[in-house]
Amino acid sequence: HDICVVHDFAYGAIGFDGKKPLSFMQTPGAKDVGIEIYTLSKTFNMAGWRVGFAVGNESVIKAINLLQDHMYVSIFGAIQEAAATALLDKQTCVQELVDLYEDRRNVLIQGLREIGWEVKAPKGSFFAWLKVPEGYTSKEFADKLLEEAHVVVAPGIGFGSFGEGYVRVGLLTSTERLQEAVQRIRELKIF
Ligand SMILES: Cc1ncc(COP(=O)(O)O)c(C=O)c1O
Repeated sequence: HDICVVHDFAYGAIGFDGKKPLSFMQTPGAKDVGIEIYTLSKTFNMAGWRVGFAVGNESVIKAINLLQDHMYVSIFGAIQEAAATALLDKQTCVQELVDLYEDRRNVLIQGLREIGWEVKAPKGSFFAWLKVPEGYTSKEFADKLLEEAHVVVAPGIGFGSFGEGYVRVGLLTSTERLQEAVQRIRELKIF
């Protein structure tokens, strides 16, 4: 269709169960039709540091370079050095981070299943998408959890129409807090 594919691979390093998310660049011919964008935000906890890169189709990369030249100034030197260290160092911290999220995913998903909420385990990233029970929109259900259980989730509709029917939970707090959230949801006796 003559459309440039831009694959946002922000969670490319965060895959569970010993598996890695597929890079668009692994597909033969990918470089002819698109690029992949990566950020250090997730893999190295550098959100807000504004460091990332794009790889792939030469003409698209050239266009990005041109835009980048005119629209942005260079990143502060210390951040560039931190980014270089992050990328060149042994990647053990990445595995530690993935293990941490996988552990939290296991605790959350197991806990929710135990209280009768039928949820799918995410295969990567630090989010879990949970199917909203019948009779609620994603917003209504998110409001209920917030008001009655004091648990914050993001309604799927906020991410577009395909998000409806789901709420998103971040695996961004300790296993103890996740267990507490499960306990509070259990007390609502919805499931
Ligand atoms: C899918 C996805 N892409 C990109 C980003 C943004 O990355 P950055 O912090 O480098 O702008 C995020 C993080 O919020 C994300 O979830």
